[in-house]
Amino acid sequence: MCGIVGYIGTQKASPILINGLIRLEYRGYDSAGISTIEKDGLSVMKDQGRVKNLYNLKGIDNLEGTIGIAHTRWATHGKPSQINSHPHMDNSKTFSVVHNGIIENYNELRDFLNNNGYTFYSQTDTEVIPNLVHYYYKKETNKDELAFLRAVKNACSDLKGSFAIEIICKDFPNNMIVVRKDSPLVIGKNEEENYISSDIPAILSFTRNFYFLNDLEYAFLSRTDVKFYDSELNAIHKETKNIEWDAASSEKDGYEDFMLKEIYEQPTAIRETIGARLSENTKCEFEELNFSKEYLQSINKIYIVACGTAMHAGLVAKHTLEKLCKISTEVDIASEFRYRDPLIDEKTLCIFISQSGETADTIAALKLSKQKGAKTIAISNVIGSSITREADYSIYTHAGPEIAVASTKAYTSQVILLTILAIYFAETLEMTQIDIDTLKKDILQLPKKVEDTLKISENIKEFAKKVYQEKDVFFLGRGIDETVAKEGSLKLKEISYIHSESYAAGELKHGPIALIEKGVTVIGIMTDKKLIEKTISNIQEVITRGAKTLIITNQNIDDKMFDEVFHIPFTNIFLSPILSIIPLQLFSYYISKEKGLDVDKPRNLAKSVTVE
Ligand code: G6P
Repeated sequence: MCGIVGYIGTQKASPILINGLIRLEYRGYDSAGISTIEKDGLSVMKDQGRVKNLYNLKGIDNLEGTIGIAHTRWATHGKPSQINSHPHMDNSKTFSVVHNGIIENYNELRDFLNNNGYTFYSQTDTEVIPNLVHYYYKKETNKDELAFLRAVKNACSDLKGSFAIEIICKDFPNNMIVVRKDSPLVIGKNEEENYISSDIPAILSFTRNFYFLNDLEYAFLSRTDVKFYDSELNAIHKETKNIEWDAASSEKDGYEDFMLKEIYEQPTAIRETIGARLSENTKCEFEELNFSKEYLQSINKIYIVACGTAMHAGLVAKHTLEKLCKISTEVDIASEFRYRDPLIDEKTLCIFISQSGETADTIAALKLSKQKGAKTIAISNVIGSSITREADYSIYTHAGPEIAVASTKAYTSQVILLTILAIYFAETLEMTQIDIDTLKKDILQLPKKVEDTLKISENIKEFAKKVYQEKDVFFLGRGIDETVAKEGSLKLKEISYIHSESYAAGELKHGPIALIEKGVTVIGIMTDKKLIEKTISNIQEVITRGAKTLIITNQNIDDKMFDEVFHIPFTNIFLSPILSIIPLQLFSYYISKEKGLDVDKPRNLAKSVTVE
């Protein structure tokens, strides 16, 4: 998804901007560009393709400006091309703008500006912004700082949709304005310089002090100062927040890829997420929530809403919440939930999971649930992210920055946090059906078992070598194992481009078995003792039809029946998804490597999907 970087300070801006864009590359993009304020006015350098291509652009080395904006574009309106790349200028070359998001009423604004003498050169929605700012700026008699700010504000008031915008003006060589609505943007503060970025890791090596903007708040930046204004341009005060993430953890630390590093960081991520919330002899703590027994008893339904991998973490949590708390729990895809008029009232609890905290559909679903009167909890990995500012309550995973597009450590951290949340609800409700003390002990032993699973999972590389040229892979499981089948299948699609499907094992014979023939690979996940015999029968059905089989299990089974069996450590059934996904993460990783693909930045995907 588009990435934004900005710099205003005492150093040459262009190398800082390009380095910042490189750190945002993982978000996915197809073109890149920068704009700086030079002695003779605004400069814009941009092109289709990789960020490093910018170094080859004629004149880029001659840029001296110490203030600039930069962008990686992920095409939405108009194909990837030089002309559609950001930054965009207005016709008079007074303003230069980068934008992340979508301007929904851009056609209407284009017509309006066309009628007022403006011409458009690109197919983008963004190009209306600098021209609209110019339209309002022209009307200002006294061209002072306030006129610049007012022109940006008037333009933004006309925009419908989502945006994070950086804007510079040739008349104000010492200033920059940034504003956001439903799109991410953070400001990093140093003594004589300020950095802007779509997310924290890209500028973490420069500063630990961050400002966060709420929707339609404006920041007016100079080198030493940042002034903040609300949507009506009343001055407001903001404090910086200190971010403790280790800058080194945004780097690869000697691993070949971020994804591999993040897979191996799972024991630490899980340990950090458990933190002090859970111990053997005391009740689970969620000070952020502080729910009473009466409130939890009044809940008629829990909705868990998310996208992609985060939604799969929700599917695991449904099993845990329903078994531990006996509260009916539904899991929904955010882009469906928000448009299907879900049955919500003040007795509904809605939980939204988003690693980045910036996924547009998940945020919109949260806003809808609030409007309908539900209590909302956001689960995110990023402090201060948009979703946490919208929710009634926010709780955090402590996975550290996740850079690879395919989510791994964020998923397992979400599963463990949701399991602890279910225990907290169950303890508050004084539920006794499930042996919670044993589950707590098992959670505390889990990081060590994750380490053990990682050690033995290295062997999956050999199986990956055998199947990397396959065209179709099926993932099967029952109960909680089916949720892992879904996540395993998603990982494989995302980074290996192999077509894969996941099914509840019992459903196979109702259609998909027609696709099974000699050579098709079927992966079975079997960790639920109660269901294992049933799943084995389903796997036998595919063996009879010539499928190659890989089994992930923590049970005693007859290994000889299958081509490959992968034994993972035994754990509590509610925690088994955290262990059984690990060999599958590595399976996808090694297949992608065998195929020579870009593991961290798979084609067509974005880390954070900030458009609907
Ligand atoms: C994108 C990413 C997925 C991620 C999903 C939800 O599709 O490619 O890896 O699971 O967004 O992201 P979130 O940040 O909301 O968890």
